[in-house]
Amino acid sequence: MIQFTVNGTSVSAESSRRLIDVLRQDLRITSVKEGCSEGACGTCTVIINGKRRTACKQQIGRLAGAEILTIEGLSQREKDVFDYAFGLAGAVQCGFCIPGMVLTAKALFLNNLEPTRDEVAKAIRGNICRCTGYVKIIDAIMLAADFLRNDKTLPKQSASGLIANHYSRVMNRKKVLGEGQYVDDMIVEGMIYASALRAEHPRAKVLSIDTSEAEKHPHCIKILRAEDVPFNKTGHIIPDWDVLIAVGDYTRYLGDAIVLVAADKQEYLDEIKALVKVEYQVETPLIRPTDAMKAEAPLLHPNGNILSRERLKFGDTRAAKAKAKHIVTQKYFTPFQEHAYMEPEAAIAVAEGDSLHMYTSSQSIYDEQHEISRMLNISAEQVHCHAMIIGGGFGGKEDMSVQHHAALMAWHTKKPVKVILTRQESLVVSVKKHLAEIEMTTGCDENGKLLFTEATIITDTGAYASLGGPVLQRACTHAAGPYNYQNVDILGIACYTNNPPAGAFRGFGVSQSCFAIENNLNLLADKVGISPWQIRYLNAVVPGDVLPNGQIVSADCALKQTLEAVKTDCDSNVNYGIACALKNSGIGVGLPDLGRCIVSVENGKLHVRTSAADIGQGSSTICLQIACQTTGLPPEKIVIEAPDTIRTPDSGTTTASRQTLFTGESVKQAALAFMKDFNGANITDLEGKEYYAEYSGVTDPMGSPKKNPVSHVAYGYATQVVLLGEDKKIEKVIAAYDAGQVINPRSAEGQVEGGVVMGIGWALTEKFKISEGRLGFKYATLGLPRSTDVPLIDVRFCQADQLGKEAYGAKGIGEIAMVPTAPAIAGAYYSDDKVLRSVMPLTNTPYK
Ligand code: FES
Ligand code: FES
Repeated sequence: MIQFTVNGTSVSAESSRRLIDVLRQDLRITSVKEGCSEGACGTCTVIINGKRRTACKQQIGRLAGAEILTIEGLSQREKDVFDYAFGLAGAVQCGFCIPGMVLTAKALFLNNLEPTRDEVAKAIRGNICRCTGYVKIIDAIMLAADFLRNDKTLPKQSASGLIANHYSRVMNRKKVLGEGQYVDDMIVEGMIYASALRAEHPRAKVLSIDTSEAEKHPHCIKILRAEDVPFNKTGHIIPDWDVLIAVGDYTRYLGDAIVLVAADKQEYLDEIKALVKVEYQVETPLIRPTDAMKAEAPLLHPNGNILSRERLKFGDTRAAKAKAKHIVTQKYFTPFQEHAYMEPEAAIAVAEGDSLHMYTSSQSIYDEQHEISRMLNISAEQVHCHAMIIGGGFGGKEDMSVQHHAALMAWHTKKPVKVILTRQESLVVSVKKHLAEIEMTTGCDENGKLLFTEATIITDTGAYASLGGPVLQRACTHAAGPYNYQNVDILGIACYTNNPPAGAFRGFGVSQSCFAIENNLNLLADKVGISPWQIRYLNAVVPGDVLPNGQIVSADCALKQTLEAVKTDCDSNVNYGIACALKNSGIGVGLPDLGRCIVSVENGKLHVRTSAADIGQGSSTICLQIACQTTGLPPEKIVIEAPDTIRTPDSGTTTASRQTLFTGESVKQAALAFMKDFNGANITDLEGKEYYAEYSGVTDPMGSPKKNPVSHVAYGYATQVVLLGEDKKIEKVIAAYDAGQVINPRSAEGQVEGGVVMGIGWALTEKFKISEGRLGFKYATLGLPRSTDVPLIDVRFCQADQLGKEAYGAKGIGEIAMVPTAPAIAGAYYSDDKVLRSVMPLTNTPYK
């Protein structure tokens, strides 16, 4: 046994163990998070003998006599300062990376309490944050240093909570100090652990499965096979995803689960899985969507290899083409992208009589409830889902990943079951951003006025449908850009392959088609002889115009204002890249789309109950501010409840940039109902009362015969400008956004900064290497942007004179934050050397 101290207390542990396991499992210090297990992400940062270290890479054997510090060992003053600084700076989103950032800052402060921004950026280079783009984390650390260095007194928090004002995130302190519970931080009495044995081949027939040796392992509790699953499919829209692959069936990607193994201790799962023998008949995988479409291609699913087909046709492109003075046709390629949320997928299922109680980190507890009850052939009421803090999502936590497996094992064993993916397993199993191959033709008149766009968009939806149909649809509906012309002909095809499934990812197909149309505009501007800014300003929609999808542009559109906001920057630079974008708020296209809220008075406080998943984008804080604005109550009087299928009504999935507008409006309506009783009264007089409201966005379906169908209740608009430095790296990004009424400005800035950095990663640094269906990277080699890779990001909000009616005029910003970044970067390089980079990640740049 090795002796050392943790936060001043003597501890002993076996030399072969990892420090992170001793901290998290034995000492229950869950501020130390496990994001990658490779020493690459920094979420497990601790201070050992005064130096920053990652606990996942520390063997206890090397720690004899060491002094280890975690956040819990900081002084009360330090805790208060970090809480205040991170909150005021708006540095906290999902929070999973934040305790590691705080301890890295503490290690820096031990030697340098007056750091520059560059020194802070260098210090946190080993800590990845996928949410914030690092800008506000650096702000927070600078602020904390100032308070500690100058022994400043912390001001008393007196935020009003009103909209358009900053308010620190709900649960800021819990996230900063690592006190908040993510799923993996929970331990339930008598809990066992489960894990799926994954496929060895992306396409193979399973000939036999032999679990006899594995079952003899002394720690094995149960092994489940496909025949143990009442309904062996998952999938929100199309249930085509096998819970477990049966003997006689085919694997479709390496993330397929063959059997589900349970053990009394997590550390024995791999040993048990290694004893399971599976015989395969290996087949050649289909890895390109264009190959999957060939007549001779083997069928990956009974209905064929085409998941969905979209045709969007307005006006007369043939006539427009005949009139066009300039026409460009170009092929584009955009790759898969890994969500890389910092919290790996985790779920706990607890059997309670004939019901299950789920603790999860998903983007929709109601979808989860539906999928699990269908899989087990039980009623929805028998599945109680509760969301813990969610460590990032970006669309990647909409599908079942671990929840169904935890539920299945708990149902069979009647024990509490935890399922958590390792980071490498998460990379293999989780859904990705769709790879897209696009051919686009765009034409304009002699002045640069756009006349038409024709495009073919082929997406790779991988092994299973996930949300591939709607993603393709949004790629098509947004393909012609936010411009005023009405001749479009877009064909979209989403194909199954043996690659990892692609699903929802920030941008939802629009990032891909925006890359094509914005590059085409640059080519046309050159042909016309006008600037990239001019061609966009000439064509940008204004209220009353008609979008290429036929929808009349509403009065709250401020696209031109976003272009005006960057005009000086474009005029004063010879070379710049620019891209515009629009992105829907809400699911739209005639589908049910509801925000729901109950407000209730409990113990003298107003509880706001919605199932909107706060995946780090800040919907809880938005709901709080809307409640404060509507009722006049101070934030201390308002409680935002976590999503829970018993307590909170179904507010739909956190998807399509919809929660601010949809759930926000339902919070406003419920709060207004409360105000009818409350006005001037004492809140305790209303103890026990509940007020319910729902907001339904009414839209027209795809293919509606209406001349001007309403596809979406609202659109956000944006313009981004990218400037290169002398070293040809990105020096500055100017991001002008129309998000309607901004509810929390610093939080909205954080969304844009995070989106821009995610866009930089997609365009330049992230290399999603995949060959024959097998990933060729680890988390550490994925190329996620780090703090020192971030350029200056200048966020500017613009607003139309007239705002939308819902949610005080707010529109979603989560997705559009990253949409224009990649084409703006490509535009900057094109402007610099006149070489069009049509394939991502972009080559011939200093990032290569
Ligand atoms: S979990 Fe230790 S560095 Fe990522
Ligand atoms: S706040 Fe940093 S990863 Fe989410």
